[in-house]
Amino acid sequence: MKKEFVEITDEIKNTNNITKQQLKYIFADDDKENEEYLFKTAREVADKVFNKDVYLRGLIEFTNYCKNDCYYCGIRCSNRNADRYRLTEEEILSCCDMGEKLGFKTFVLQGGEDAFFTDDKICSIVSGIKQKNPDCAITLSIGEKSKESYQRFFDAGAERYLLRHETANEEHYAMLHPASLSGANRKNCLWNLKEIGFQVGCGIMIGTPGQTVDYIYEDICFMKELAPHMIGIGPFIAHKDTPFRDKPNGSVRETLLLLAILRLIFPKVLLPATTALGTADMLGREKGILAGANVMMPNLSPVSVRKKYLLYDGKICTGDEAAECNMCLRRRLENIGYHVAESRGDHPDFRK
Ligand code: 5AD
Ligand code: FES
Repeated sequence: MKKEFVEITDEIKNTNNITKQQLKYIFADDDKENEEYLFKTAREVADKVFNKDVYLRGLIEFTNYCKNDCYYCGIRCSNRNADRYRLTEEEILSCCDMGEKLGFKTFVLQGGEDAFFTDDKICSIVSGIKQKNPDCAITLSIGEKSKESYQRFFDAGAERYLLRHETANEEHYAMLHPASLSGANRKNCLWNLKEIGFQVGCGIMIGTPGQTVDYIYEDICFMKELAPHMIGIGPFIAHKDTPFRDKPNGSVRETLLLLAILRLIFPKVLLPATTALGTADMLGREKGILAGANVMMPNLSPVSVRKKYLLYDGKICTGDEAAECNMCLRRRLENIGYHVAESRGDHPDFRK
């Protein structure tokens, strides 16, 4: 193990900060032992805060209609091959019912930016879930909305919101999105969500076309400013019906390195071991947990629609019933010495 690598890792941990040089040093290193030291250090920090508890969020992908046309995404509006669907309010509520029976206390409602789901409809779904299950936490992940809309969702009972910023650099943002979308607006949404009082999640993909370590450093700087409660990180995985179909996938190793670095910088942040990570590597989610992640988001969507919510090719668990994924994840976590938490899994600063 190189002394310099150890020193850098320890310094990131002790200062909750990283310099651009340190980030570049870590990404350029390819020594397994060094890597393992970083993962172990991050894991120890996570274990201190979360006690080897892993929080499960039940993901309900309720619409794959989307008005946006992001170049990386399989449900972009110009993908004519996507088989579009919407769940009804009843179907969404019954997903939550089933989830509750499996022990889930948090539901993430994720969908494309779909005008069919007006603010009224979203509020009615949120309050419907809350009425049946007052102790659960509801997370929305439905894209960019006005501050007024976000406030309405919050008032209806949604407490958390996920909106990956995708990249903090405006030029890079423009390489990934059509001109109708801007990084500035995306960031503004995140600030609005924070101001309203949501527990907020931002995040990026690793290995998107045009991404550099400099850009990743800018992402970390933005995250330090925003101080999100959750950070979603997963490798970019090409989808065959997108302009990025021939682009190489993001690296699992780099995803794990960044997870570990983020754990050292933000000891209390909620850090999912994402489905994309589990897709890029059969043991990716386990490796994520062992590199400092503490959240998993199994799918509760009806199996009949699973294969239709494909943001990228090869997505795992699209044929498995929620109960199977639930058992599978519990087993996988036990195998690596972790366990599913019983709580709602709020950010430590929001614990009631
Ligand atoms: N590969 C990996 N992640 C993707 N996402 C969208 N498309 C892809 C892809 N091709 C991520 C984005 C989005 C989140 C819901 O999924 O970061 O914010
Ligand atoms: Fe879905 Fe393992 S988590 S089958």
